[in-house]
Amino acid sequence: MGSTSDLEVMSAAFDVLDRFRVPYEKKVISAHRAPALLAEYATTARDRGLDIIIAGAGGAAHLPGVTASMTTIPVIGVPINGKAFGGMDALLSMVQMPSGIPVATVSVNGAKNAALLAVSILSLSNPGLAAALQSFREQQAENIKRTEI
Ligand code: RP5
Repeated sequence: MGSTSDLEVMSAAFDVLDRFRVPYEKKVISAHRAPALLAEYATTARDRGLDIIIAGAGGAAHLPGVTASMTTIPVIGVPINGKAFGGMDALLSMVQMPSGIPVATVSVNGAKNAALLAVSILSLSNPGLAAALQSFREQQAENIKRTEI
């Protein structure tokens, strides 16, 4: 994430990854405040064994796009609702990536879905994770069925 101020939103992703026992690392690396650090992080990501990067940022949020430009592993962007525009600024900066460098963008503050998408991608080569994801979906449907209003 781009700042510690993103932590509260991004914690929804940690909850999902914990639930599915997916190992992950949490980092604050700003694309504009610490570009050299980001370059080092992104260019070494694949060799360090990372499979996916979830990048959450607000404002003129170039973190996911710049990260994606420096690695070929999938990058999932989470637009964070900052102080202006209801997160539309961050959303457009991610979803409107110019062609050639994709960022898989989820909804504004959609950290939970970012992690679920990451789990889904990882499940392609991990049958245990695929089964866990299936059972999560079934449980979710069951909860809806049991919801009383
Ligand atoms: C972005 O600027 C961060 O991702 C954060 O969402 C936003 C504001 O950062 P702070 O000024 O709170 O550190 O880079």
